[in-house]
Amino acid sequence: MKTTLLGSIGIGLIATSLMAWAQPPFGGEEDIAYAEALWETMKDTNLVGEKRTMSAPYTGQHPHGAILDTMDGEITVEGTTGPVIVKRNYGGEGVSREAVWNDPDQYLGSVTVMFQREGYDPDNNDWFWAKYLPDGSLDTNPEGRPLAGRVAKGMEQGCIACHSTASGDDLVFGHDRFQ
Ligand code: HEC
Repeated sequence: MKTTLLGSIGIGLIATSLMAWAQPPFGGEEDIAYAEALWETMKDTNLVGEKRTMSAPYTGQHPHGAILDTMDGEITVEGTTGPVIVKRNYGGEGVSREAVWNDPDQYLGSVTVMFQREGYDPDNNDWFWAKYLPDGSLDTNPEGRPLAGRVAKGMEQGCIACHSTASGDDLVFGHDRFQ
């Protein structure tokens, strides 16, 4: 009896860890819902959407847009207040800093966001990552998984892997622009 019981607990534990392993660290229902709440808050604070304020566009770096414009601020999402960094990625034919300044909507390809959500991911400075299309829907990876949450924790590519190479220990590249 005893061994059977221990055996089933063992199998249970293995099954649980396999499920944790099989479950990608981002793009689940909770992440999608949170990304929607985040977008709404950013809209209310004029960080995204029609009424968004803009910074001077500058020449970007791969894999972000050819031209970028980055804003930061502090917002509260579902009771958590923290810093947010919003990067607008521009591209397309004829893109230039001037063209973007004159008609941002024409060239806006995506909006990449980092929101520091206390306690969410202590291994990676608690950042919640999201990549939106201009209309606020989430962009997806090649497998169709929405890019929201811990993207892509433990994997060799993705927001976290690349941003881990930023100098300093907070996964932010553009310090000069935000301080
Ligand atoms: C291969 C590397 C790489 C990947 C992958 C990457 N980024 Fe970045 N990211 C950068 C670099 C480099 C900058 C600085 C660009 C600049 O402003 O000139 C940056 C800047 C940013 C910024 C502005 C804050 C900062 O660090 O300067 C945000 C927000 C951001 N990225 C979000 C994301 C999100 C969300 C993802 C995933 C969907 C992502 N990034 C994937 C390299 C990467």
